[in-house]
Amino acid sequence: MRIIRDIRDMQSASRAAKAQGSTICFVPTMGALHEGHLSLVRYARTQGTLVVVSIFVNPLQFGPTEDFNQYPRTLEADCAKLEAEGVEIVFAPSPAQMYPEGAKTVVYVEGLSEKLDGLSRPGHFKGVSTVVAKLFNIVKPDYAIFGQKDAAQVAVLRRMVRDLNMDLELIVSPTVREADGLALSSRNVYLTPEQRCQALVLHRALLKVEAEAKSGETSAEKLRSIALSVLASEPAAKLDYLEIVNPDTLEPVEDTSKGALVAVAAAFGATRLIDNVLLPKL
Ligand code: PAJ
Repeated sequence: MRIIRDIRDMQSASRAAKAQGSTICFVPTMGALHEGHLSLVRYARTQGTLVVVSIFVNPLQFGPTEDFNQYPRTLEADCAKLEAEGVEIVFAPSPAQMYPEGAKTVVYVEGLSEKLDGLSRPGHFKGVSTVVAKLFNIVKPDYAIFGQKDAAQVAVLRRMVRDLNMDLELIVSPTVREADGLALSSRNVYLTPEQRCQALVLHRALLKVEAEAKSGETSAEKLRSIALSVLASEPAAKLDYLEIVNPDTLEPVEDTSKGALVAVAAAFGATRLIDNVLLPKL
């Protein structure tokens, strides 16, 4: 496995691989890898002949009061996991390489970037779309894999790929959970055992909505109040949002029969967690 830190080296590795007929499947990450990330890597293996994983804690997507400095950085352990998965290339640039002095260009998906997490994390999705566009230009993937766990991120990036005619296919892979339902997240390490237990309310609320939808409820308003009452049963959960939206536009829907995304974000102590479930089209 090659660990590449330099942008030009990564660009030439990709160019050379393509010249030899490889298809590149790319998994962008911020590291602190867990089974959720590794599920994307395994999916990537089935899609492309060369798997590239990036590890870059992107300063541009963290707000001034967020956890950029604290964010877990475990490069050595991450590389060992990726090597065991048979990954060919890890791209791990420095912030100075990615954002040299004078960098002024951003990619901003208007409208979508202010919804869901974008509302409580101003500038977050602009940071995500900018870094992912840059990573795509550097790695030149044929396929890029993202997790359903970050549903709003998927909507923003899909729109970016479409609007800017990026020549790649974006693939979405299901959310990986702990046995008790908690969605895996690099931020779960911040939770105390008590908060970890409280955080299970997110999954409980989503499961309840899913069950009600399965038994025929299609009113988003009713489903939303069912979810809110489950969330209210855990007073430690500081709710940020619980929305039922169109998964592509992130606009609220009234009726879920054409399919809908139920997305939730809440803080437990200082740790903000997100989760979601997709209701299928009836
Ligand atoms: P990060 O949070 O490290 O996540 C990297 C990828 O792993 C994302 O596509 C995310 O949706 C996916 N992922 C995280 N937890 C998951 C889980 N439990 N199940 C399935 N997939 C999961 O998302 C980012 O990094 C950044 O915003 C990035 C796209 C790398 C841009 O900086």
